[in-house]
Amino acid sequence: MAILVTGGEGYIGSHCVIALIDAGYDVVIFDNESTGFASTGKTLKSIGSKGKVTDVVKGDLLVTEDLEKLFSTHDIDAVIHFAAFSQVAESMTDPSKYYRNNVTGTMNLLDAMVRHDVKKIVFSSTAATYGEPVYVPIDEKHPQNPINPYGRTKLDIEYMMDDYDRAYGLKSVRLRYFNVAGADTKGRVGECHDPETHLIPNILKSTFGDGKVFRMFGTDYDTRDGTCVRDYVNVEDLSDAHVLALRYLENGGDTDFFNLGTNEGSTVKEVFAVCEKVTGKKIPVSIEGRRPGDPATLVADNSKAKEVLEWAPRRDLDHSVKTAYDWEVKKRNA
Ligand code: UFG
Repeated sequence: MAILVTGGEGYIGSHCVIALIDAGYDVVIFDNESTGFASTGKTLKSIGSKGKVTDVVKGDLLVTEDLEKLFSTHDIDAVIHFAAFSQVAESMTDPSKYYRNNVTGTMNLLDAMVRHDVKKIVFSSTAATYGEPVYVPIDEKHPQNPINPYGRTKLDIEYMMDDYDRAYGLKSVRLRYFNVAGADTKGRVGECHDPETHLIPNILKSTFGDGKVFRMFGTDYDTRDGTCVRDYVNVEDLSDAHVLALRYLENGGDTDFFNLGTNEGSTVKEVFAVCEKVTGKKIPVSIEGRRPGDPATLVADNSKAKEVLEWAPRRDLDHSVKTAYDWEVKKRNA
């Protein structure tokens, strides 16, 4: 039996694959390599641990034959589903791409699961399903009113999963990530987005003295130093939560949803200061206007994940920045 990881060659998926094999699971990766990398699949396949990556399948959630072949040639026990497009700005200009890939793609996946009697899925959801916060910290009872198509596709999928549970008994855990940061402590995988929109890699890419200047978006927010507050959760901690969510379903847990964050917020200026401290470099910065659609503060209340999944984040922001920096250096030297 194996765990199917869709999007296993992407940023979060690849770290989760390592957490799964370290926990003794065998893993089959399914990825269309549109934003994931074949080289990441090769790296993951070469890692020896308690479990292993038994197969890396290149295929697309929009091609039902790909899914049919996948499920009929592998013995899948449960699915962890990452494969999705995730850029907020792009989702505003090309919503069709997001609804087709994220919503239709997931429906195809769930249909294949139902046909092949696979009844457990852990899904990569997002704090973006909450939209503009009504209160912080945000718990799971916070209203879900996403303000962009990306967030709406993820919320549509959450609803779809409820309906598939009621009708077909498919149990899901939806993990609503806050801001994911860092890289594998052993430097085997890390973040590779193109274009990169995330704060920490963008600050770190400006440390190499090649003229790239970090653009700080908005210093006039109603926060302690005027810059946006976000809750940065380490990618390895996040991956551990997926293993716990899988175990929860294996132990008969019912469909549920959990925030994954640290309960603590850092401002953009604070993150910038950590980057300068950890890298020992003076980083060039230009102060810009606000980026449209950025709420001032997003911080998780993670008590439910702590209580039900017995998850606790262990790695701090310094560790996330250090591992992310080591990864940027490794990529440049590759
Ligand atoms: N920022 C900059 N400069 C940059 C990049 C980001 O100043 O070059 C600022 C942003 O304006 C924001 C903060 O850093 O204030 C964090 O921005 P990110 O793009 O790193 O993260 P977001 O909070 O915008 O987005 C994250 C996830 C999304 C998810 C969203 C909502 O990346 O997928 O949280 O929870 F939708």
